Amino acid sequence: GAAELGPYRHYMQKEIFEQPRAVADTLQDIESITPELFGDQAYKVFKDIDNVLILACGTSYYAGLTARYWIESIAKIPVNVEIASEYRYRDSVPNPRSLVVTISQSGETADTLAALKHARGLGMEHTLTICNVATSAMVRECKLAYITRAGVEIGVASTKAFTTQLTALFLLALALAQAKDQLSEVKEAESLKALRHLPVAIGAVLALEPQIMAWADRFASKENALFLGRGMHYPIALEGALKLKEISYIHAEAYPAGELKHGPLALVTEAMPVVTIAPRDELLEKLKSNMQEVHARGGELYVFADADTRIGSSEGIHVIRMPENYGKLSPILHTIPLQLLAYHTACARGTDVDKPRNLAKSVTVE
Ligand code: G6P
Repeated sequence: GAAELGPYRHYMQKEIFEQPRAVADTLQDIESITPELFGDQAYKVFKDIDNVLILACGTSYYAGLTARYWIESIAKIPVNVEIASEYRYRDSVPNPRSLVVTISQSGETADTLAALKHARGLGMEHTLTICNVATSAMVRECKLAYITRAGVEIGVASTKAFTTQLTALFLLALALAQAKDQLSEVKEAESLKALRHLPVAIGAVLALEPQIMAWADRFASKENALFLGRGMHYPIALEGALKLKEISYIHAEAYPAGELKHGPLALVTEAMPVVTIAPRDELLEKLKSNMQEVHARGGELYVFADADTRIGSSEGIHVIRMPENYGKLSPILHTIPLQLLAYHTACARGTDVDKPRNLAKSVTVE
């Protein structure tokens, strides 16, 4: 009820603002990276596996796509990520040395549970879940688990569950690296420091809300939007587009920026806002030329740019500056403004933000 909402208009807004706390709780008071964070048998399992297969639906699937970048780069273990409802029905080649990772806020999604059982039926016994509900079917069915501490999420569009999943998945990448002797003490210490600072860093991004609201007013009259990201921010672009679709009913698509010229450029006109995630990373110069391609065709760019990217506002290029560059954990910070943009656009359009039409919080039937 209203009392629970405090100063917020919707649960979704409240849950967006709870993220510093949710991430801090998910990290608990971890003092060192060890496989045991994922369960008693984790060390043995992590030693044995030679690849990772991630299965999930919806927003949780996008957390999985982000995790692929982390696990391959930090732990050097090959990763596949599949939509649960596809995996369960296709002929695949099982590998008994796979670590099967399910990601689920509710732990009750029918397709994800069925995909897990399908994998087990194919002889894959090493199972782990990243899940927000400790008492769920998913946690009971998996050998290993990491429980995210987002707390109850009421808004149908997932927000704090996603960023806590990412936090847990980053820990998984580190723990796998450790089991495979890929994690130096220096790297471990640096990573823990960056993780512990996350709640404060997220707080600084939340403070951008007034600037994002001004953008949202302009988005409210649009019928389409394009989201661009590259590398580990491409899945964040997908999540940003999903948020906007789910709650504002604006059609939105995400593309890896390098793929623009293979189709989406044909859609770019003055009527097409192009949201761009611009972290300061190795791909920045390439991203800038992708932005130029949009700009040259009259597209309006809305850029979330890290402070040191030297991307400035000009005619047709709107920039909101992110407070800091956050290295490998940057996808978590870049998620926040996209949540706020979707939220305020939906508010401006007057949709039922917490209960979007035709959608359910947890899809427990196929
Ligand atoms: C529904 C929800 C999404 C969620 C997806 C997967 O579509 O609306 O927010 O990402 O299910 O749910 P899960 O509980 O498995 O993460």
